[in-house]
Amino acid sequence: MEPAGGRVAFAYDRMRYHPPEVSGRIATAITAPVEARFRDPHFLELGVGTGRIGVPVLARGYRFTAVDTDPAMLSVFRYKIAGVARKVRLVQADARELPFEKGSFHAVISVHLWHLIPDWQRALLEALRVLAPGGYLFEGWDESVGESEDCRIQERWRAILAEMGFELVRGRHQARLAEVERALTKLGLKPETAVVAEWTEERTPRQSLEAIAERLYSYTRQVPPELYLRSLRELFAWVEAHYRDLDRPYPIRWRFLIRRTER
Ligand SMILES: C[S@@+](CC[C@H](N)C(=O)[O-])C[C@H]1O[C@@H](n2cnc3c(N)ncnc32)[C@H](O)[C@@H]1O
Repeated sequence: MEPAGGRVAFAYDRMRYHPPEVSGRIATAITAPVEARFRDPHFLELGVGTGRIGVPVLARGYRFTAVDTDPAMLSVFRYKIAGVARKVRLVQADARELPFEKGSFHAVISVHLWHLIPDWQRALLEALRVLAPGGYLFEGWDESVGESEDCRIQERWRAILAEMGFELVRGRHQARLAEVERALTKLGLKPETAVVAEWTEERTPRQSLEAIAERLYSYTRQVPPELYLRSLRELFAWVEAHYRDLDRPYPIRWRFLIRRTER
C-alpha cells in the first residue's frame, strides 16, 4: 500500500471512526480471552493505522506494540496516544518481516490488512511466529449490512468508470479473508468468527464523496489518476443532481467481526 500522507491519514481517522461503545466492545472481545490466560499480556498490532482498534486496547493499560509501514499513519497514532503511551512501542516495519523474537507476544491483531499484502502468506507466518504458545491471533473487519446511500454512490462511481472503459474490482478483502482462513485451517488451527458489535452510522452524501475522493478504500487505488479525476467530476455532478441536500445524513448499518485463532 502506498504511504497515505498526513492529510489522508487524518481523513482515514475521521471517516472510519467507531462510536465509543463499539470500540469498547471490540477491545473487550480482544482483551478478555488474553487477560484470562496470561499475566501482564503484550499485544502486537500489525498495520495499526491511526489506532482505531489499538488505542482502546492500550488505553486499558496493556503492553502494546504498534507496527505499520506508513510513517503518516504512525504520526497520527502517536498524537492520539500522547498521555496514555507509557507501555506502548511504535515500530515502522513490514508485517512480512517482523523485527521481533519468536513467541514475544500474547496476542497479534490484524484488521483490514491482509488484502493489502500480495504475499500475505509471509505476514501470516510472521504473525504466528511471534505469537507465544496459547496466544491468540485476532483478525477483525467492518461489514456494512444491507443497502445504503453510501453503497449507491459507490455503485454509481463503478458504473461511471465502466462507461469510461475501466472495470473496478471489488470484494478483494472478503476473498482474502477466506484464503487466510483456509491457510489457518491447513496449519491445523481452528479459527472462530463472531460478530462483536453492530451499530448505525449517519453519513451525508458529501462524506460518501469525500471517502471516494480521498481514496480511503483500498479498491479506489486501482484507478489511474487522470481517469480518477474525470470519473469523480461526473460522480460529483450525479450526486448533486440526485440529492437535493448534500449535508442531509442517511443511515448505514455496520457490524464488526472478529476471527479468533488460538496458536
Ligand atoms: C486499511 S488500513 C487499516 C488500519 C487499522 N488496522 C484499522 O483498521 O483502522 C491498513 C494499514 O496497514 C498498513 N500496511 C499496509 N501494508 C503493510 C505491511 N506490509 N506491513 C505493515 N503495515 C502495512 C497501512 O499503512 C495502513 O496503515
